[in-house]
Amino acid sequence: MSEQLKAQLLGCDDLPSHVAIIMDGNGRWAQRMGKRRVVGHKAGVDKVREVVKTASELNLKALTLFAFSSENWQRPADEVSVLMELFLTVLSLEIKRLNRNNVKLSIIGDTTRFSDKLQTKIKNAQDLTKDNTGLVLNIAANYGGRWDVTQACQQLAGLVQQGKLSPEDISEELINQYVCTAQLPELDLLIRSGGDCRISNFLLWQAAYAELYFTETLWPDFDENEFLKAIASFSQVERRFGCTSEQVVATK
Ligand code: IPE
Ligand code: IPE
Ligand code: MG
Repeated sequence: MSEQLKAQLLGCDDLPSHVAIIMDGNGRWAQRMGKRRVVGHKAGVDKVREVVKTASELNLKALTLFAFSSENWQRPADEVSVLMELFLTVLSLEIKRLNRNNVKLSIIGDTTRFSDKLQTKIKNAQDLTKDNTGLVLNIAANYGGRWDVTQACQQLAGLVQQGKLSPEDISEELINQYVCTAQLPELDLLIRSGGDCRISNFLLWQAAYAELYFTETLWPDFDENEFLKAIASFSQVERRFGCTSEQVVATK
């Protein structure tokens, strides 16, 4: 089933270039089986591997995964600490494979709050893969959409203060170059697993014209077929960007 759908999608002109995923539902998945929430986080890692592989096979340009939000620090300390440990372990275990597969890894978010050990691992992983030309894999960690816009404003205000930029030169295009996803194609498709229909402070600026896809499936159950279904649904949508349907058809 999924091989057939994948083959179909490979021949399709309307694939998204940049897909983002809010990987939600790990805790509930574990709790439903009477297990601790962290068991769900561990099971979720396998699905990360699976979507990265499929995204590469479909030749998507960028995949941005929400791994830890700026609000997730508020969770119980032991859950936060398991998540940090998991991040460190997964980074160590997966980086060689990602590099072999020509994936360029980038961690987006305020990484200064992480331990020195984790910050070093992140830096090394990014350095190792920086010249790779395949899929750009962004892992959003301690990321918040409002933080992203704020840090872009701070950088631009700094340039104004230094006399290198005048306020009237601040345009949407310029702000785009200072948010964490600068250099990447526009976000086309935003997927959220776990049944909730909200953005939870993810890519606020970038999601302006993204197609939104929500599924009840909990993240540890989100397999390749679910991912392909989301992409297939994207490829069937008419994106009008404010125009009329007739205008869109005429420019095709
Ligand atoms: C998403 O799953 C993973 C992180 C936020 C780190 P959750 O842990 O939010 O799982 P639910 O939503 O409680 O089921
Ligand atoms: C969003 O999930 C963050 C990640 C998936 C990393 P949450 O579970 O934190 O979102 P809310 O709290 O339900 O909005
Ligand atoms: Mg959640």
